[in-house]
Amino acid sequence: MNQTNTAAIRFDKVCYEVDQMSILYNISGSIYEEKITTLIGPSGAGKSTLLKMCNGLISPTSGETLVDEESIDLIEPTKLRKDIGIVLQNAPIIRGTVFENIALPFTLQQKKLTEKEAILFLEAAGLDHTFLYRRAEDLSGGQKQKVSIARSIVNKPKILLLDEITSALDPTSSHEIEQLISKINRESKVTIIWITHNIEQAKRVGDYTWIMMDGQLIESGESGLLDTTRNEQVKQFANRVYKK
Ligand SMILES: Nc1ncnc2c1ncn2[C@@H]1O[C@H](COP(=O)(O)OP(=O)(O)OP(=O)(O)O)[C@@H](O)[C@H]1O
Ligand SMILES: [Mg+2]
Repeated sequence: MNQTNTAAIRFDKVCYEVDQMSILYNISGSIYEEKITTLIGPSGAGKSTLLKMCNGLISPTSGETLVDEESIDLIEPTKLRKDIGIVLQNAPIIRGTVFENIALPFTLQQKKLTEKEAILFLEAAGLDHTFLYRRAEDLSGGQKQKVSIARSIVNKPKILLLDEITSALDPTSSHEIEQLISKINRESKVTIIWITHNIEQAKRVGDYTWIMMDGQLIESGESGLLDTTRNEQVKQFANRVYKK
């Protein structure tokens, strides 16, 4: 890996237990600034749990998560929420217009988003101005996901966390969202961590890939490792996914 890369997030021996059950075990590694890192692995591997560690939604039982080399526990929750955006598989859409949905992060801070600004975010997420006053709940799955991406960039986050945001979408919408992720990363230099079950997607979109199994980080490196790995577990996982 390129030694000049800076860590946007660093995990230092992170463990997470619930009721004495180990969910994450001894995870160490860096998520590099301005890059796209994909988390991949079987269901139950701990991917979403690790993602939630990145914005302080959950805290490690032992070990530490650092953002810009500062312990996440010491960072103001409001700053964390502003600097680190998150989009989930079934993004919650509030009742009301697309505009109201996009403006939500500002509304929560008693700030006002102008129509002009909202249109810029909407366009950045691949929807044009005609969507602004449409009822958000009437939109298609792909369009709703674009609205939630637009909403997640309103605070101009440094880091975006995306949890399986394409898995409920058809291939065309899924491809559009992939392109959107790359565009946001390229143009706004946002560090992106995203979870997908799709190895082809990981290779197309991610600069780096982390492969997780049973709560452990099995292998990490540039996304090409999915083809070149010598790790038997990873090979088996890749073969199983391809054969589906
Ligand atoms: N709060 C909790 N209480 C009990 N078990 C939990 C809790 N959070 C996560 N788990 C368990 O930890 C494991 C990892 O969960 P996680 O959601 O991180 O997996 P994942 O890799 O995201 O899976 P998927 O691909 O299905 O989304 C699972 O076995 C899950 O049941
Ligand atoms: Mg998950």
